Amino acid sequence: MAREVRLSSKSLILPIFIMEGENVKLPINSLEGHFYYSPDTVFEAVDSALKYGVNKFLVFGVPTEKDEIGSQSFDENGVIQKAVGAIKERYRDEVFIITDVCMCEYTSHGHCGILDHGYVDNDKTLEYLTQIALSHAMAGADMVAPSDMMDGRVAAIRQALDKHNFINTLIMSYAVKYSSSFYGPFREAAKSAPSFGDRKSYQMDYHNKKEAIKEALLDINEGADILMVKPALSYLDIISEVSKQSNLPTAAYSVSGEYAMIKAAAKMNLIDEYGVMCESAVSIFRAGADILISYYAKEIAEAINKGDIG
Ligand code: PBG
Repeated sequence: MAREVRLSSKSLILPIFIMEGENVKLPINSLEGHFYYSPDTVFEAVDSALKYGVNKFLVFGVPTEKDEIGSQSFDENGVIQKAVGAIKERYRDEVFIITDVCMCEYTSHGHCGILDHGYVDNDKTLEYLTQIALSHAMAGADMVAPSDMMDGRVAAIRQALDKHNFINTLIMSYAVKYSSSFYGPFREAAKSAPSFGDRKSYQMDYHNKKEAIKEALLDINEGADILMVKPALSYLDIISEVSKQSNLPTAAYSVSGEYAMIKAAAKMNLIDEYGVMCESAVSIFRAGADILISYYAKEIAEAINKGDIG
C-alpha cells in the first residue's frame, strides 16, 4: 500500500533484432536468451512478449549489405522497413513499434553518420537521418528513436515528418546518450562497432551532468515527445535530473552491458538473477524514469504480474 514506486508492463519496451533473409531464428551469442529474427519470423518474438503484456518494441536491423552511406538504412525494402510493415499489418494498434534511427549498423565503417576525412559530418548526416526516419514512418512505425547523437536531428526529423504528413509519428530522442563501454554486447549483436576510432566526438562524456540537461532541453525545443537517457544503471543521477527538469516522459535504456553483467554473474552463481533484475528495474523507475527499455522486459513484466515488484 505504501510503496512509492509502482510499475506496469505498459511502460516496458523490448528490443528486437531483425536480420535480412527468411525463416531466420538464430541465437544472439552476446545477448543470451535473445534471437535474430527475419521479417517473416519476427511474429514469434512479438507473440511471446504479448503473452506477458509487453506490446512495445524497439526494432534494430542487421543488414547483409553495408556501404559508406548506409544505403540500406533508408531503403524502402530494407530489413527494418519490411519487418515494421509486416508487424503493423498483422497486429495493427495492438502493438507499438519504435524504430532506432541510426546509421552505424548500416555503414561499412560502423560510424553513426556520413564521414568526411575520417570525421562524422554532422549536417550532411542530418539529410540521411531524415530519410531514414521517413522510410520508417512510411513503413508504419509509431515512433522513431534517433540514436545517432547529431546536433539538430530532432528538429530535422520533426520537420521532415510533418512535411510528409506524418504528424502523428512520435519522436523518442536518445537525448542523453553517453559514450559508454556498456554497449559492447549490442555492438557485437548488431555488428556495428566502429572500424576505427570511437564515438566520443558525438556521444557524451560520462563526467558531465550539466551537459545532459543541455542536450535534453535542446531536444525538447526541437520537438521531441519522449526523452531517453542511456545507459541506465550507472546513470541513475542523470535519469533523476532529466525527469525533474523536463515535463516530457523520461525513458531509460538499460543497455546490453547491464543485461550481460547480470547474466554472467548469475551464471557464476554469484548473484540471484531474478532478485537483481527486479531490484535494478525498480531502481530505474525510483530514479524517475517513466519508461524502461530492457532486454529483460518480458521477465520484468512477469515479476510485476506475479506481484513480486510494483
Ligand atoms: C546505435 C545504438 C547503440 C545502442 C542502441 N542504438 C550502439 C552504440 O551507440 O554504439 C546500444 C544499445 C545497447 O547496448 O543495448 N547507435
